[in-house]
Amino acid sequence: MTENNKRDWNSTAAGWKKWHPISERAARTATETMLQMAGVSEGDRVVDFATGLGDTAAACAKKVGPSGHVLATDAAPAMLEFATEYISSQNLTNVNFQVANFDELKLEMKNFDAGLCRWGLMFAKDLVASLAAIRGVLRPGGSFGAIVWGPPERAEVHSLTNRVLMQSLGLPPVNTGKGTPFGLCDREALERSFGAAGFTNIESQAVSVVYDFSSAEEYVQYRRERSSLEKQIAHCPEEARERAWADVVSEARKCARPDRSLRFVNETIVITGQNAVQQYF
Ligand SMILES: C[S@@+](CC[C@H](N)C(=O)[O-])C[C@H]1O[C@@H](n2cnc3c(N)ncnc32)[C@H](O)[C@@H]1O
Repeated sequence: MTENNKRDWNSTAAGWKKWHPISERAARTATETMLQMAGVSEGDRVVDFATGLGDTAAACAKKVGPSGHVLATDAAPAMLEFATEYISSQNLTNVNFQVANFDELKLEMKNFDAGLCRWGLMFAKDLVASLAAIRGVLRPGGSFGAIVWGPPERAEVHSLTNRVLMQSLGLPPVNTGKGTPFGLCDREALERSFGAAGFTNIESQAVSVVYDFSSAEEYVQYRRERSSLEKQIAHCPEEARERAWADVVSEARKCARPDRSLRFVNETIVITGQNAVQQYF
């Protein structure tokens, strides 16, 4: 992670904290699928990469129980601070925290039964190198489970705002390529990267992530405070920016139900691979 990216993640951490209840609820099904596919069970020692506010680490800590242990890691210290608060609010005592960058992974603890990374791998500088380093901290036979976003056209919770905001300001579309949240949306290519990093028994599936908002206004506030969009349009005049956000609200209202609430069903990819057990002949 570059110093610039670290500054960005540190500065969005407060917005992430404010909206944590909505994002945590939306991600539960996919998170549970990842834990199951990675075979996480009672007593396991697990490392969570790019933990953000720590809800994957919390779900995992509940699953492994008091005889297990979770190491929650992230490259952005502000995220880890909030993760520490959240984990203690859940009365979990089997989680430790460490600042760790998966672009240059250095962990003292090794031989984990499993590794996890929810919506973080897309930001790897060199995906195969990071995956190989992650595999290197797992015990033989240990599993790694990850979640990445599917194609942008199936993630309307992000795309509606991105599209309307940029069109309204006459700016080019938001980048959805390498290094962005959608940079790993090609499932076959992702599986090939897992293979290139030495993982075996690779499996993946598409899972729905359902976001619920009480109104279009709430949805747009969520997007303003939890994304880097404000920063991307900061060079535009304030009046134009406010008009563009109002356009996003109008467009979002078109998807609202009679009680004004909104539901976005998005596609995410859950993938697992195993650090092969060594064979001696
Ligand atoms: C989209 S958030 C996901 C957070 C959390 N896993 C979740 O699902 O809510 C991405 C996270 O990846 C972290 N991150 C980005 N690049 C990283 C890197 N190279 N090493 C470790 N963490 C990284 C950011 O600090 C941020 O917390």
